[in-house]
Amino acid sequence: MNYKKNLFHVEHISTEKLSKKFKTPLYCYSYLRLKNNITNFKNHFKKINPLIFFSVKSNSNVKILKEIKNLGLGADVVSKGEMMKALKAGIKTKKIVFSGVGKTYLELEYAINKNILLINVESKNELLAIEKIAKLKKKKVDIGIRLNPNTNPKTLKQISTGKEGDKFGVNENEFLNLVKYSKMSKFLKLKCLSVHIGSQILSIKPYEKMLKVIDRVINKTGYRFEFIDLGGGIGISYEKNNKKFNFKIFNSLINNFLKKNRSRIIFEPGRSIIGNAGILISKVIYIKKNKIKNFIILDAAMNDFMRKALYGANHQIIPSIKNGRISHKKFEFVGPICESTDKFLTVNKFQFIKEKDLVIICDVGAYGMSLASNYNVRPLPAEILVKNSSVQIIKYRQKLSDLI
Ligand code: LLP
Repeated sequence: MNYKKNLFHVEHISTEKLSKKFKTPLYCYSYLRLKNNITNFKNHFKKINPLIFFSVKSNSNVKILKEIKNLGLGADVVSKGEMMKALKAGIKTKKIVFSGVGKTYLELEYAINKNILLINVESKNELLAIEKIAKLKKKKVDIGIRLNPNTNPKTLKQISTGKEGDKFGVNENEFLNLVKYSKMSKFLKLKCLSVHIGSQILSIKPYEKMLKVIDRVINKTGYRFEFIDLGGGIGISYEKNNKKFNFKIFNSLINNFLKKNRSRIIFEPGRSIIGNAGILISKVIYIKKNKIKNFIILDAAMNDFMRKALYGANHQIIPSIKNGRISHKKFEFVGPICESTDKFLTVNKFQFIKEKDLVIICDVGAYGMSLASNYNVRPLPAEILVKNSSVQIIKYRQKLSDLI
């Protein structure tokens, strides 16, 4: 995705062309970016040969999941709905893991009937519920136990999941108890220790600490886990000065860890696979000026893309056509929704811009469409996938008649 002669292109098609055909706001993905992200992820961990299970919550479009499956990945799911989508995309049951603190009895039953690779258990009561279902079905169910390693991931507080006060996983003592219990159970087969400490993590330190904790806890159990599921969380560069995640060090830390623990590593990446493969194309409806700012009112809003409103996350906004005429003013890109949190970005300069121009909100492939809602009775945008010069609608724009 880049400019060619001042026109922004997704692979071989300009965003001007795409928006004419498919209207705005429009989610648009590049297949090549997706493929490169997967290839790079695999290459970073070649020696480890991990199982890579895409975190469906980051993007649950079935067509995207199909492409991801064809590129060799499995799925990490957190609801029956996500599991159904993964299965619909053709992902094999033995390439699916199920996480989440509140799996219902019905969801557990569904997962057990499907014989998925692992249910990653997050509490004693969930473990007992699984055992009960397994007993009724006269089955032995493969499980992991999610450890809360009490590690600060140094990321946004809303997306931190591995500290003592967080609702996720169980603490070390409870973990040891659950290991003992599972070993004795006729209906549970303990295969995995799982962790996930948070999302958009750019520093290696939290992972280093997490691996130390896991190592210590495994030693205490004296148990050989077939799998160690390290979760997801690897961050991407949303802003120019964001540092890059150091895969090299992470890889060598894991290699050292594996020298002592003979297990197969599972990763559950979401953002690092699809984040920078998606853009949101939006049209300027109005420009409204006051003494302090120029409000650029877009046809996309917080319902279409929530990350700024929810987490204060900044995503770059760039023009669809570069004109080279820079205005040094305060520009605030906002949506039409009736609350002040409905804004995307404030910048001190932008190129000269007028109504009906198109802009591109960058890096929205992860937690973009999957967080979108119908707030203010706004239909969900369409999604398209570009592969070279071909383009495919992978989700039709919702119609108002679907909502009313
Ligand atoms: N595995 C588990 C158990 C998770 O809870 C998550 C994300 C992942 C894997 C994938 O993490 P990733 O590689 O994408 O960082 N909506 C927020 C992010 C929430 C992440 C929740 N868990 C955002 O837009 O930043």
